Amino acid sequence: MKATRRSEDEDRPVIDLALFGALGDLSLRKLYPALYHLDREGLLHDDTRILGLARQEMQTDAFRKRVAETLQTYVKPAELDRATVKRFTARLDFLQLDFGTAEGYGAIAEWRKAVRHDTVVCPLVVYLAVPASLYGDICRNLQAGECLDELSRVVVEKPIGYDFESSCEINDAIGEVFPESRVYRIDHYLGKETVQNLIALRFANPLFGTQWNQNHISHVEITVSEQVGIEGRWGYFDRAGQLRDMVQNHLLQLVCLIAMDPPANLDADAIRDEKVKVLKALQPFSEARLNRDVVRGQYIAGTINGKGVPGYLEEEGANRESGTETFVAMKTGVSNWRWAGVPFYLRTGKRMPEKLSQIVIHFRQQAHYIFDPDQRNLAANKLVIRLQPDEGIALEVLTKDSGLDRGMRLRRGPLHLDFGSAFPQERIPDAYERLLLEVMKGRQYLFVRRDEVEHAWHWCDSLIAAWEEMGEPPRRYPAGSWGPVASIAMITQDGRSWYEDY
Ligand code: BG6
Repeated sequence: MKATRRSEDEDRPVIDLALFGALGDLSLRKLYPALYHLDREGLLHDDTRILGLARQEMQTDAFRKRVAETLQTYVKPAELDRATVKRFTARLDFLQLDFGTAEGYGAIAEWRKAVRHDTVVCPLVVYLAVPASLYGDICRNLQAGECLDELSRVVVEKPIGYDFESSCEINDAIGEVFPESRVYRIDHYLGKETVQNLIALRFANPLFGTQWNQNHISHVEITVSEQVGIEGRWGYFDRAGQLRDMVQNHLLQLVCLIAMDPPANLDADAIRDEKVKVLKALQPFSEARLNRDVVRGQYIAGTINGKGVPGYLEEEGANRESGTETFVAMKTGVSNWRWAGVPFYLRTGKRMPEKLSQIVIHFRQQAHYIFDPDQRNLAANKLVIRLQPDEGIALEVLTKDSGLDRGMRLRRGPLHLDFGSAFPQERIPDAYERLLLEVMKGRQYLFVRRDEVEHAWHWCDSLIAAWEEMGEPPRRYPAGSWGPVASIAMITQDGRSWYEDY
């Protein structure tokens, strides 16, 4: 094994991965399983090595055992093979480190020299699976410890800050050490297969390309619902709330991919420039519109899958007075030529009846209608893009109802592309697999640029400020329901309803 050469294999470049927060939840649940799958698919170069860093004391052997155990838990039994687990865990080393002090960081450079037999030419990828408050210190300490060079990259997780100002502080601290071209900000929704398919669907199919504007689309609907509650994350979540946790990042990224103009090519900056234009054109919320167009909710006790679950204020560690929202629904829009007058209805919440991420594009009705007047409301196409579960795309079309006595009655039916059954031999990879692979290849198009984060915060901050000004508590909804009734009223007042055909 030649451990020191620069990889010429673009699909499987050699890297050294330094994983901060190596024993944390994200690493155990998502990162090791994703790296394992890459290894299993032959996408991790034989020479790639991984250094786990955590504050706890642990020997490398015990660390490898811990990772092997986590794979047993989080990888499907049919996809877990002993040879890959053995090969994968053999790539791992462990270093105990106090992240906040520069002392000790030199050991990372030592580790690299040791595994590369003194000649280090592959990039160091630093993955910060730790709270954002530590990003600045870790970056500075890596520099002081002479761990970095012009190839080093850093990967950071959301949330980047709590508002525009704190996100600037964090990004400044990272930027003092890493240039933007080597910063990879993860929004894991961008790694989901069907989210990337939005780009293919929109820009590879002339059928949609010509229809994708206010002349043909009446409104857009995005639902991201979860069954889970706060699951021991009360401390973090109560300060954030659903707007900061889900809308500022995941939902706005979906809005960008639906609303952006075609990029000149698939280069990272061509795509991100177009996304920024959408974020800049997002409609701000005026005080007058707040009551009408935004609904905040908080779940109370209810039933999920036939089992009673506690309310948000009864969760472990809860502050019983909290006014944090666990649900948001809103009507917004993109003020530009393409989307003028097209409402975007967004809703997302915890403790809802099912886990579902879905976009529905509602096309306008036929201008000259010749069928039964009582079926007029049926007469519009819908494109349903299902991100999870059961990834797929369905186009609702109208056909003639069959039967001799049906005349020219219409009925609605889907043209359906279900990825699972259309391509059964293909495993749909987890978002983190794709994102880790892209970091290794040094491609940034699935990562969020600094100005995207900042524009998204600007928009959210103005909404939060208006909420604070209004001072109203969130509306209650029972766990296991689709949110406060006001969120249904919000859309029905426009003569529409949330798409419920799943
Ligand atoms: C995370 C949020 O970013 O996304 C969590 O912090 C949320 O609160 C999660 O549960 C949802 O991700 P997914 O991929 O399960 O839809």
